Amino acid sequence: MNLARLTMNAPALAAVYEHAWRPALFYLASGRTTATDRRDAVTTLHLDGAKKVLDIACGPGNFTKYLSNALSDDGYAIGLDYSEPMLARAVADNAGPRVGYVRGDARKLPFADGSFDAVCCFGALYLIPDPIAATREMIRVLAPGGRIAITTSHRADNAIGHASRIVGGWSGLRVFDNDIFPKLFAEHGLVDIDQQVHRLLQYVSAARPA
Ligand SMILES: C[S@@+](CC[C@H](N)C(=O)[O-])C[C@H]1O[C@@H](n2cnc3c(N)ncnc32)[C@H](O)[C@@H]1O
Repeated sequence: MNLARLTMNAPALAAVYEHAWRPALFYLASGRTTATDRRDAVTTLHLDGAKKVLDIACGPGNFTKYLSNALSDDGYAIGLDYSEPMLARAVADNAGPRVGYVRGDARKLPFADGSFDAVCCFGALYLIPDPIAATREMIRVLAPGGRIAITTSHRADNAIGHASRIVGGWSGLRVFDNDIFPKLFAEHGLVDIDQQVHRLLQYVSAARPA
């Protein structure tokens, strides 16, 4: 297990992740606040009404609960993560009437094909040992007409990008070329593919045709 994965399993990190670690590190990496990322996630995923949402690698549920607030009626959001300390925090800090948490591996999701109207994975694909398998699983469980959104690292072609590759390699965080996820989405028949780059992070979204 590398340093990045060990850190995600540490109860101390789970305790400070939502209110200190994530806001600070993601602001440095992207120039965006968590509030902006959350609002954009709701918009990009077209969340409303009775939709069913899957938040992969949900950590302490810091997005899952917020996403569930955009739903009504029989809508719900499920957060999936493999880290017990992260899930314990999710249950303690981010429970709600339309939220549930599942322990599982993003590379082999315990859900049937087409189960969700929206699937997202923020700030985690660079930690997962086989990120392409995990992305294929996200696409598999996406229903016709559903939307998918990811936020992950990208390979910036400048000094900062070069430094991030060295630090990433040392710590176990992967840095992705820009074309990987748009290409993968297109190969799986997804449409309306959008990619935005903010400093060291890329935000990619798409839809499965209805
Ligand atoms: C940095 S946190 C991201 C939390 C939240 N999505 C966010 O954007 O703030 C990364 C999470 O990925 C989880 N993770 C890493 N590999 C995983 C895997 N194979 N399956 C499920 N969760 C995984 C870690 O346990 C950790 O909670």
